[in-house]
Amino acid sequence: MDDGLKALLRKYDSKAPLDRAFTIPRSWYVDPRVFELERKTVFGGNWQYAARLDQLDRPGKYVTLDLAGEPVVVVRDAKGLNAFYNVCRHHAAIVLTQPSGDCSTLRCPYHGWTYGLDGKLKAAPDMGTAKGIDKGKIGLPPIQVEVWENFVFVNLDTKAKPLELGGMRAHLSELAIGKLKFFERRVYEFACNWKVYVDNYMDGGYHVPILHKSLAAVIDYENYTIHSDGQVVLQKSPLKASGAAAKLRRGRDAYYYWLYPNFMLNWYEGVMDTNLVLPLGHERTQVVFDFYFDDVSPAAAARNRASIDLGERIQHEDQDISTSVQRGLGSRSYEAGRLSERREGGERRFHKLLAGDLRRALR
Ligand code: FES
Ligand SMILES: [Fe+2]
Repeated sequence: MDDGLKALLRKYDSKAPLDRAFTIPRSWYVDPRVFELERKTVFGGNWQYAARLDQLDRPGKYVTLDLAGEPVVVVRDAKGLNAFYNVCRHHAAIVLTQPSGDCSTLRCPYHGWTYGLDGKLKAAPDMGTAKGIDKGKIGLPPIQVEVWENFVFVNLDTKAKPLELGGMRAHLSELAIGKLKFFERRVYEFACNWKVYVDNYMDGGYHVPILHKSLAAVIDYENYTIHSDGQVVLQKSPLKASGAAAKLRRGRDAYYYWLYPNFMLNWYEGVMDTNLVLPLGHERTQVVFDFYFDDVSPAAAARNRASIDLGERIQHEDQDISTSVQRGLGSRSYEAGRLSERREGGERRFHKLLAGDLRRALR
């Protein structure tokens, strides 16, 4: 095993109490070896958001994704949902190349090997005389798939425990998130390590009054609370009734849920967005925003767009600060930073879960 990498992982003290704790060290954000390890263990060993269930509502419908470098397809057959590595068993071509669609079989575009919706090999043209090929034993390797509300999750770890959501499951079902309807997807790119984006989300509202004036006008910063529960952190903020943005951010409280490592769900009354944080490299990150509303009729379109635009301004502010933080993390002058006990307990939870995964992988 890589001793240099082990030494890097030892630099983080996950036992210190929060009022003495530091962030993970800068090297974890800038060293490609840490990123490679994360690909295998963090993204390859935890439940990952894959699709909306409404995209897979009848047999043949599929969604493909790139799970930190691993091609994956989720497809429905007559019995239910299946997820597979989207890699042909012949010479490794990607089998389904569109982001989503409808198919009766999964046919490889290279030499035409064809798989059923259950992943089993059905046809392999001109392979009849090859010895020792048992079609019944060849198929796209399955991966785990689970559904929660309108969300489909997959896990590359075949021995993974079921998706654990703690109190989030009951609470969000009480909030009837299943009744909200998908409206639009927007994708943003960030010039930073994926963890910079997550840290920014998890700072307990610390940066909101300084960086996001439009959001600061609607959330009651003083009464912001942070609850950690296993792999889930809930940041909750009472909302202020006044201000121009208040019409777009309704309800008594805002709930910002995070599921380790890279899925966020932000809820206001009648308005929700999910954020999926996808590393494209150790210093490049894509964040996929899906917006949901209680009313997606044409009459509500203008209000819904205004709500998304309010979020978009916040994204641009976060994009700029994340680029800045990544630059700073590249500086030899910085090693790690302290945490606010009042605000940054969620960030601490993130760092501890991450450190646990990375260290387990190197054991
Ligand atoms: S690589 Fe798929 S059929 Fe050859
Ligand atoms: Fe922000």
